[in-house]
Amino acid sequence: MENVSPTHKELINVMKNARRVFVFTGAGVSKESGLPTFRDDDGLWKKFDPMTMATPEAFRENPVVVWNMYRIRQTQVLSAQPNPAHKTLAQMEQFYPDFLLATQNVDDLHERAGSRRMVKIHGNALEMRCLDCVTIFDVREFSFPEEFTQDTLPRCTKCGGLCRPNIVWFGEYVPQEPMMAAVRSAANCDLMLIIGTSGEVSGGYGFAEYALANGAAIVDVNPGRGALTRYARFWVSEPAGSALPQMWQEVTKNIAEG
Ligand code: OAD
Ligand code: ZN
Repeated sequence: MENVSPTHKELINVMKNARRVFVFTGAGVSKESGLPTFRDDDGLWKKFDPMTMATPEAFRENPVVVWNMYRIRQTQVLSAQPNPAHKTLAQMEQFYPDFLLATQNVDDLHERAGSRRMVKIHGNALEMRCLDCVTIFDVREFSFPEEFTQDTLPRCTKCGGLCRPNIVWFGEYVPQEPMMAAVRSAANCDLMLIIGTSGEVSGGYGFAEYALANGAAIVDVNPGRGALTRYARFWVSEPAGSALPQMWQEVTKNIAEG
């Protein structure tokens, strides 16, 4: 693992010559949009215990508390804007013939920046689903109170069942189709970009190992060391919002120059 600048020559060459690209993003990519991560000092799991907020048991025990936390998160997501890291990833997608972005993020900033060849493996903070009939709803179609009480918790418009945030909680399976697409892309890529994730949950190791087994170069963009940094050939230890545009500008400049 080499700690490199965003314009490091070899890194740029690898990015320029890659054809099959797998991108794995986490909360760090949205941090510069003002959304807090989970495990940084100002992260969500430093404020809240995930075991009382992000498990099916916690929801059964106290749906009001859980809903009110996700309500705040939804409001934050809706007022946040994609940053240059999201936008650069949407541009990269246009260039590589084989490309998949798998995000652990439950915000919609990749989508709003223009990413299309992407999968969400931890659900969506702007969706809820009925515990009884499993219908999924867009929360923007509802007018929620500022704060939920037992009586005002979101209910299914089809069957009246209680709804929950459509997010993967601890102890739950990740959705199969997006996960399988991500695994396939990791196992076939020649370049894997890891961006803004501590890599501590959800198959991160698996993705990196599949990519390595296929001979891919792994690039980690993260100002701090994460659990996956050791797999990386290049570690760009800078915030994604400034590093990614610099990297991509250099790649496109190189291409234009032949
Ligand atoms: P974490 O909070 O675990 O990690 C965020 C990572 O982003 C850290 O490694 C930071 O160093 C890095 N980071 C901070 N600022 C950055 C920046 N400007 N640019 C790039 N990187 C930056 O978040 P995740 O790895 O996404 O699950 O967490 C994984 C999962 O754990 C989340 O999806 C969530 C949580 O429990 C669910 O909600 C289901
Ligand atoms: Zn229902």
